[in-house]
Amino acid sequence: MHWNKVLRIACLFSIPVLATALRAQSVQYFEKGKLWLLSTDHNSYVLAVGPHGELQHLYWGRPLPRGDDLSAPRAVHDLSSFDPSQMLVNDEYPGWGGPFYEEPALKITREDGDRDLVLRYVSHRIQQNDLEIELRDIRDSIEVTLHYRVYPHYGIVRRYATIRNGAKQAFTIESAQSAAWHLPHGTGYQLTYLSGRWAAEMQINHEPIHQGMKILESRKGHTSHNLNPWFAIDAGDAAEESGNVWFGALAWSGNWRITVEQTPYEQVRVTGGFNTFDFAYPLRPGEALDTPAFFAGMTSEGRGSASRLMHRFEREEILPGGAKSRLRPVLYNSWEATEFNVDQAGQELLADKAAKLGVELFVMDDGWFGKRNNDKAGLGDWYANPQKFPQGLKPLIDHVNGLGMDFGLWVEPEMVNPDSELYRQHPDWAMNFPGRPRSELRNQLVLNLARNDVKEYIFNVLDKLAGEYNIRYFKWDMNRSFSEPGWPELAQADQRKLWVAYVRNLYEIMDRLRAKHPTLEIESCSGGGGRIDLGILQRVDVVWTSDNTEAFDRLRIQEGFTEAYAPKLMSSWVTDVPNMNGRSTPLQFRFLVAMQGALGIGANVNRWSPEDSALAAKMITLYKRIRPTVQTGDLYRLLSPQTSDVTANEYVAQDGNQAVVFAFRHSQQYSTPAPTIRLRGLDPRARYGMTSIEGKLQEGQEFTGAYLGGAGIHFNLRGDFDSTAVVLEKLR
Ligand code: GLA
Repeated sequence: MHWNKVLRIACLFSIPVLATALRAQSVQYFEKGKLWLLSTDHNSYVLAVGPHGELQHLYWGRPLPRGDDLSAPRAVHDLSSFDPSQMLVNDEYPGWGGPFYEEPALKITREDGDRDLVLRYVSHRIQQNDLEIELRDIRDSIEVTLHYRVYPHYGIVRRYATIRNGAKQAFTIESAQSAAWHLPHGTGYQLTYLSGRWAAEMQINHEPIHQGMKILESRKGHTSHNLNPWFAIDAGDAAEESGNVWFGALAWSGNWRITVEQTPYEQVRVTGGFNTFDFAYPLRPGEALDTPAFFAGMTSEGRGSASRLMHRFEREEILPGGAKSRLRPVLYNSWEATEFNVDQAGQELLADKAAKLGVELFVMDDGWFGKRNNDKAGLGDWYANPQKFPQGLKPLIDHVNGLGMDFGLWVEPEMVNPDSELYRQHPDWAMNFPGRPRSELRNQLVLNLARNDVKEYIFNVLDKLAGEYNIRYFKWDMNRSFSEPGWPELAQADQRKLWVAYVRNLYEIMDRLRAKHPTLEIESCSGGGGRIDLGILQRVDVVWTSDNTEAFDRLRIQEGFTEAYAPKLMSSWVTDVPNMNGRSTPLQFRFLVAMQGALGIGANVNRWSPEDSALAAKMITLYKRIRPTVQTGDLYRLLSPQTSDVTANEYVAQDGNQAVVFAFRHSQQYSTPAPTIRLRGLDPRARYGMTSIEGKLQEGQEFTGAYLGGAGIHFNLRGDFDSTAVVLEKLR
């Protein structure tokens, strides 16, 4: 059967429900065409062995119900001497060798200088949702295992590669990518990605894909605020609730790279893995390297659906504890209130106030350890400052626990201030190139966590803290990027392994800590959102979204965040005003913005008036009522702060029994009424009882889902920084 016919037939089966009914096993092999069909509720993915033994990608799109419709790839001929057949097929994992000129998935140099690598199919294994395909170079035992895991309910496939040296001579890897993902042939695609900087993370960009290559990457050693390892691509026609969207995210918290390439032959390919910049990873005979995991999916129901699939997937398959992990507690953090001026009495006072508001987790931020009175000293010396905490941290923690709250502690274990006992003892532990300057940022240097002695030191410090005190939560910060990434103790050829070994050791510390202290939770922070990716999210419970807590800016940061990451992971605080930009928004506005994620308070509650405290207590009570819906429900982005002066987001509970709508207006002009907002994700035939937070709407009224989705709700939002929320409960 001709391939186009297969695609046409596939289009008939666009409804995920139908696909679920028809889906057999998630991984099937068809000997006839030597091809594999990976099936999910939302899409299918097909790859096959080509006529020369090369692995070819054939299809990634709407669900294909039967493998029997598929046929083996045919031989392709050179188009010209400049356009060889190798370029015309979609190589599933291209080695750099032969006449191949596009982005390779693997590039190596052998000890003897030979750099040619041509990978061919050897064998495969299928086990439930897993497929492993072995490839091997046409001459040498340079072996690659491609790992696929299908997550049928989420429409997501995980890929990574193991590169093994089974040969007799060493080689150095110059590029090791996790996967190449191919979109259906064509042009006119649009790329969506997230960019930013400190205090302005997760800005959404849409741009057309043209011939050539777009690179998204980090060279900073950590994920970085500048670009996030996530992408979405559509055919230029997708909206929140319609259109085909292909999306993916890399699970790596170090130097990463995603290239989006359109070839001269209308192939569109996304390749991602370790950043090739400054990358050199020697593999001696018998050694192997695993690339990071690259997760990707496809939906035919728009960008909102792509986000919801990712959100569910992250909550249930990525987060430690998965679906069983607890709802995020309401948190208090001392940073914006006290900065470095922490001490026992001051923290106890804040804790008393926080507990009265309904806070469940009290976190003491920076300033509690060593000689840490400002950012010039102390990092590395992880013992309680004896002036501030004469009897250690136990009395404060007991006090916090006595108020019914858990206790959390800020740490920044990967860093050292030159003015610290640790640095005076171990100056060689900081990353450096001998004899060269050590660039300080925020007066601190990065420890070379790639070294196992440094790894053990950090593990022991944190293990001791978690063992000695009743600490439920570490806020794990990382307040600068790498510089002078030297590892002089190793042979020159091995020194660049630092980029990989650092991250692996970081992961290992977190994994060991969690295993040893099963109730310990971790927040990933890197000066705000500098380390947010699926790799760290396999080890932490929540992330600090941004150091920018200004509520109006937050609407955009949070919108971008939710493109890729679940609201449950998104730590959002209510802080004092005037805030960044010199802006002051009403306390209710700040609360409702923060209540769209994992709610925290970062304000100086000592200064709050009785009215402020009463409003805060009311909001926290409301938050607890809607928390399961916000944290584990489906998010519908109804109106975007990018395109409207009204922002609206709706969360629908997993069981459909509750929905919450948040709406914000920042600057009414010309007395224009706020737009009517049509809700999504409701059962059209069900009736919903509606209550607003402050009686702005007709309290207690009931509406059908059909009415709320069709006619919608009019929120009477007026003036500057007005806000409201309504809760809808399904009536029986
Ligand atoms: C970083 C974090 C803040 C705070 C400070 C403390 O900037 O993002 O939340 O913890 O460090 O120094």
